[in-house]
Amino acid sequence: MQNNQDVLLKVEHLCQYFPMEGGELKAVDNVSFDIKKGEVFGLVGESGCGKTTTGRSIIKLYNITGGSVFFKGIRICAGKRSYQDAMKSAKKEYGEKIKNASSEAEKSQLKAELDQIIVENKAKIKAANFDQKNCDKEYSEELVKKLNASYQPAIEAASGEEKAKLTAQYKDALRKAKKTKLVTQIQMIFQDPIASLDPRMTVRDIIAEGLVIQGERDKKVIDEKVYEMLELVGLVREHASRYPHEFSGGQRQRIGVARAIIMNPDLIIADEPVSALDVSIQAQVINLLNDLRDKFGLTILFIAHDLSVVKYFSDRIGVMYFGKMVELASSEELFLNPLHPYTRSLISAIPLPDPIYEKQRQRIVYNPLADHDYSVDQPSFREVKPGHFVMCNDAEFEKYQSILK
Ligand SMILES: Nc1ncnc2c1ncn2[C@@H]1O[C@H](COP(=O)(O)OP(=O)(O)O)[C@@H](O)[C@H]1O
Ligand SMILES: [Mg+2]
Repeated sequence: MQNNQDVLLKVEHLCQYFPMEGGELKAVDNVSFDIKKGEVFGLVGESGCGKTTTGRSIIKLYNITGGSVFFKGIRICAGKRSYQDAMKSAKKEYGEKIKNASSEAEKSQLKAELDQIIVENKAKIKAANFDQKNCDKEYSEELVKKLNASYQPAIEAASGEEKAKLTAQYKDALRKAKKTKLVTQIQMIFQDPIASLDPRMTVRDIIAEGLVIQGERDKKVIDEKVYEMLELVGLVREHASRYPHEFSGGQRQRIGVARAIIMNPDLIIADEPVSALDVSIQAQVINLLNDLRDKFGLTILFIAHDLSVVKYFSDRIGVMYFGKMVELASSEELFLNPLHPYTRSLISAIPLPDPIYEKQRQRIVYNPLADHDYSVDQPSFREVKPGHFVMCNDAEFEKYQSILK
């Protein structure tokens, strides 16, 4: 399935529910956003609001409950809940109607309508299963096609030694292309640089792991690549033979970055990459990510629990609260015109190095029950200004519109 090209990642109505006693935990509930090529998208919200689950869903660690995720225009995740629900409610609704039908003709007409709904939704479920399974295959087939197109004319035109050399290169590239998975172009950097690095592996093996899985066998190529990555992230090649425990927190996070970058990813999901680090080290790691972003045109989904970290680094910011996206805007707009009371409370929590401001700074506490009246009119995620979305109901929508004026 194809989608808009400038958008690298498109998350549509993502739902990830976890079973729990007496029901389900809606860790991520109907979250939509997209990330454009080359941009840094900040995802912010307090601990437990579903940020990590969103990231893990995107890299296919779960079979998502509902919605879709498109990467490079290919649907890589597809949930089925909405289709199952649609069938369930249609059966209920039509069952009732059929029971009350006044004629046989009406009855069979209603039955036909219901059948149609069921057929359509079953097809959608089948398509969801297919896309989820086949996205990697589809992608590697595309790579193989591209390889064929570039190598075959050259091989045909060449002769003797040149031909043999090209053929060998082609075969090696082909073997790797067949193993390449689309999702390996999304790499994750984790919050805890201690837990995310295997203590029994050398730094070289940790950084090289993805390459090896992807079929690289040439030890020299691997070593060179690892050295290059180490230097890129501000470490030195001598570090390759050491073990994670020999490094400081900041250095371990650099190893984590090297492990991600070596795969030449299009998208990096950095899940609170600096939260576990000393404040003095945090800026260094952020600067490193910024440099890499400039160098490789990386696109980054940057997850953080407070706004101060993402403020200067992100082009756009999405604010999550209890599994839902409550506000989304460009960084500038979000700080200039925060609308949702939860965003306002987050902003009010940011300290500034200005004693006069600090003396007057009032922390706003978000209290959903007091701040919204959703007893009659339910909220939805709405665009209150081009590019600025807020979770709001009709009354709030009007209020926000007048604030923006
Ligand atoms: N594998 C899981 N099984 C059950 N519940 C989970 C699982 N992963 C996360 N959760 C729950 O989902 C919610 C969101 O968690 P998480 O995405 O880790 O939040 P955040 O990263 O924003 O702190 C939390 O209530 C958490 O306990
Ligand atoms: Mg988390």
